[in-house]
Amino acid sequence: MRALSGIQPTGPFHWGNYFGAIQQYIQLQDECDDGSFYFIANLHALTTVREKERLLEFTLNGAIDLLALGLDPNKAVLFVQSDVPEVSELCWLLLTGTPMGLLERCVSYKDKLAKGIKADAGLFTYPVLQAADILAYDATVVPVGEDQLQHIEVCRDLAQSFNHHFGETFVLPKGKVLDQSARVPGTDGEKMSKSYNNTLAVFDDVKPQRKQIMRIQTDSRPMEDPKDPAGDVLFDLLKLVANDEELAEWSATYARGGFGYGDVKKALADASERYWGPARERRAEWAAKPDEVREILAAGAAKARERAAATLKRAHEACGVKGY
Ligand code: TYM
Repeated sequence: MRALSGIQPTGPFHWGNYFGAIQQYIQLQDECDDGSFYFIANLHALTTVREKERLLEFTLNGAIDLLALGLDPNKAVLFVQSDVPEVSELCWLLLTGTPMGLLERCVSYKDKLAKGIKADAGLFTYPVLQAADILAYDATVVPVGEDQLQHIEVCRDLAQSFNHHFGETFVLPKGKVLDQSARVPGTDGEKMSKSYNNTLAVFDDVKPQRKQIMRIQTDSRPMEDPKDPAGDVLFDLLKLVANDEELAEWSATYARGGFGYGDVKKALADASERYWGPARERRAEWAAKPDEVREILAAGAAKARERAAATLKRAHEACGVKGY
């Protein structure tokens, strides 16, 4: 098994990124017998982050965040997407032969159009670059949140049709989501997402996050009524960061009624502080040594390039652009 996944440096990572994806990266770095590859998808981020300084800052910060959260460069290969130019070349090979209709059906493109965001060709062809990312490393498993499954299907389609047309070249990957956190809700109950402005950041300072949690909108049922925890945003978020004992207590309290949402918010803020505390400390340590982080990324890129170059050679030869 070889895992690969990418994460966009479009801002601070949030609970959805962690519980949907990053948590799996950390677990898989121990489970993969054939290596695991994780990268900061700065070329994808360029479709939304159009200020140079911000992109640079988010990219390095993204790597620092992953290291602080437990990604171990001795076990997994950590790198920045743009440091492997072979992937962009592979993207072109896949673009030729990608049906327009396939990309028109992709939700992330459709969603942005629906929100009135003008699409450019980069945004439209985004899933093809993602397919190249995955295929370049012969990944067999791609740990992600549910929102990325469609892109992985596109990747499989493109790989299959290339293999069918030019002969076996690419390994077909499978997406992997966690049942309990495939779609982490944001503070408004919708999917947590930077573009919906409903995120809780993993590395926020304690005070602003506490304030943010206290402001979460709740319904106005009377305090003495029993409450159903299913679909309750506060309870859903609490499930992610509270320990089993606390959770059992809160389940019982919901069933009994006679509490206020303010109490749950306080419990959520406390649990969050406890849950992220150690990673927040590790983050400060990594942030103090950015050159070491850059070295890790450079070493990761060298390893990643070696793999990607071998795949690109195979693909070049298969379709007749090398060996004339
Ligand atoms: P991105 O940067 O939007 O998100 C990174 C990862 O976090 C997951 N995620 C969530 N999971 C559960 N609940 C949520 N609310 C939530 N929000 C985000 C995402 O599913 C993702 O796994 N296109 C990708 C980046 C990418 C990539 C790749 C991923 C580029 N190339 C190759 C896998 C393989 C993206 O935009 O993720």
